[in-house]
Amino acid sequence: MTKKIINYGSINIDYVYRTPHFVRPGETLHAESFTKGLGGKGANQSVAIARSGGHVVHVGQLSTLDRWARDVLVNAGVLVDFIDEVDDASGHAIIQVDSDGENAILLHGGANQSVDIKSLEKAMEETDDVEYLLLQNECNNSELAINAALTNKIKVAFNPAPMSQDVASLNLEQLDTLIVNELEAQALTGSRNINDSISFFVTRLPATRVVMTLGAKGSILVNGGNVVEFPSTSVDVIDTTGAGDTFVGYFLQSLVSGLDDMSALEIASSAAALAVTERGAINAIPNIERVTEFIHG
Ligand code: RIB
Repeated sequence: MTKKIINYGSINIDYVYRTPHFVRPGETLHAESFTKGLGGKGANQSVAIARSGGHVVHVGQLSTLDRWARDVLVNAGVLVDFIDEVDDASGHAIIQVDSDGENAILLHGGANQSVDIKSLEKAMEETDDVEYLLLQNECNNSELAINAALTNKIKVAFNPAPMSQDVASLNLEQLDTLIVNELEAQALTGSRNINDSISFFVTRLPATRVVMTLGAKGSILVNGGNVVEFPSTSVDVIDTTGAGDTFVGYFLQSLVSGLDDMSALEIASSAAALAVTERGAINAIPNIERVTEFIHG
């Protein structure tokens, strides 16, 4: 059995509106369609790990009124024993998806912002064979979560999405893996130039594997002074929501299953390419059989 991943991550209720364009200031716009479902960068990444064949224990929090969301995770194969239920509203996201498949997301943190670090500590104590703690930036207590993993000699993978100012003050040098998109890389490095970002990561995070996802421009991985680029695959884009989360989940599980960086990039890029060809977040995350068929034909 492969080792496990604990994901300390958000659980959101996504309200998704297809619109001809993003609503402009002062404008009132009719949506073309509406759907409600489970989302959140944390939940999406847990589902991606499970669908890629991994064992993932999700630690997080949601409202007692949204037990159905927990059931969606269970059905996807995510272990949910350390998801707490509270009286607060669940985190939620208002998502507009325009005619190009791009999205604009308004977040309300809700229960994701009061997760008890003790739940994570308990998960670490009671789960054997944990290789990674994965976290994003939609829950409170990121610093405590990283420190708890390091204390327990668990490797940390961090996807600082959505980016916030306090990320720079975290102990990034101690991360095993950092996965950022272009905007997150710019915010961390202070430069819009990809080569500057690469130099920043080589010198400032020499012991960390850094992956920059660049959408249609593919991805770049920086690890121990080595820099590798991986191209994207051209597909018909229907909805980009959750594609980054699909990439993160697939990439990390590929590492856990023993693949090298390049193979992990190939699998994660292919899974993300498939994810943008369908509507929704969790709904669009492919399983490993589809990804393998996509790669090998
Ligand atoms: O990355 C996509 C996710 O971002 C959505 O599911 C939404 O909940 C926000 O967290």
